[in-house]
Amino acid sequence: MRKLIAGNWKMNGLASSLAEIEALKGLTGEATCDIVVCPPFTLLEKAAERAKDSVVIIGAQDCHPQISGAYTGDVSAQMLVEAGARFVILGHSERRVFHNESDAVVSTKVAAAHEAGLTAIICVGETRAERDDGKVIEVVGGQLRGSIPAGATSSNVAIAYEPVWAIGTGLVPTIDQIEEIHSSIRQTLEERLGEDGRRVRILYGGSVKASNAADIFGATNVDGALVGGASLKAVEFAGIISAAA
Ligand code: 13P
Repeated sequence: MRKLIAGNWKMNGLASSLAEIEALKGLTGEATCDIVVCPPFTLLEKAAERAKDSVVIIGAQDCHPQISGAYTGDVSAQMLVEAGARFVILGHSERRVFHNESDAVVSTKVAAAHEAGLTAIICVGETRAERDDGKVIEVVGGQLRGSIPAGATSSNVAIAYEPVWAIGTGLVPTIDQIEEIHSSIRQTLEERLGEDGRRVRILYGGSVKASNAADIFGATNVDGALVGGASLKAVEFAGIISAAA
């Protein structure tokens, strides 16, 4: 399966950061995987201009479930498309925690993204306490079933498994732990989407770096990565991308 490597800049990046996209283009000309960079809303249009005619695809980090309306401060999926985005990250644990997003909300956002023609990267993942309680498969399975709307296919969704305790901490699950949960995600996708569930890309996210990427990409059912901190610098991100080749 063609791997998908996505960078989530989170609330980082000013106009000066666009130089990283420029540098990334130079470093990834021969890439054999899909490369997505998700800057903050304010940089989307400029980032899309810089990425034009290159292998770099631009994505966003969230969208509102409605097409338009009285939702002060929010941004719709259609607006993202107009700004040049082709992907959108939805249901990230930071949105689930800081903005109280439930699976039902995530599912309606994914449906809105599809309606606008975007591919959604749907994030799931357990907390440390849920892992310690032996509830990983139950929690992640529940989030997944609740967050995938009708109409989802292998071309309009990817799943990112991001254990909350591994995000920004330098902690990474063992390869066995990653394979266990990715195989259970694959099973849930097949139950939900039938044979097409086999083609949905399942990304791992949480403290991915150039130094650990090759081992992670070697794991069964790991079809790419969702990268936070290490996506902010083109050289480090390109190191992760080359590990996927
Ligand atoms: P880090 O790569 O910084 O751990 O962040 C992962 C993440 O949350 C990507 O969405």
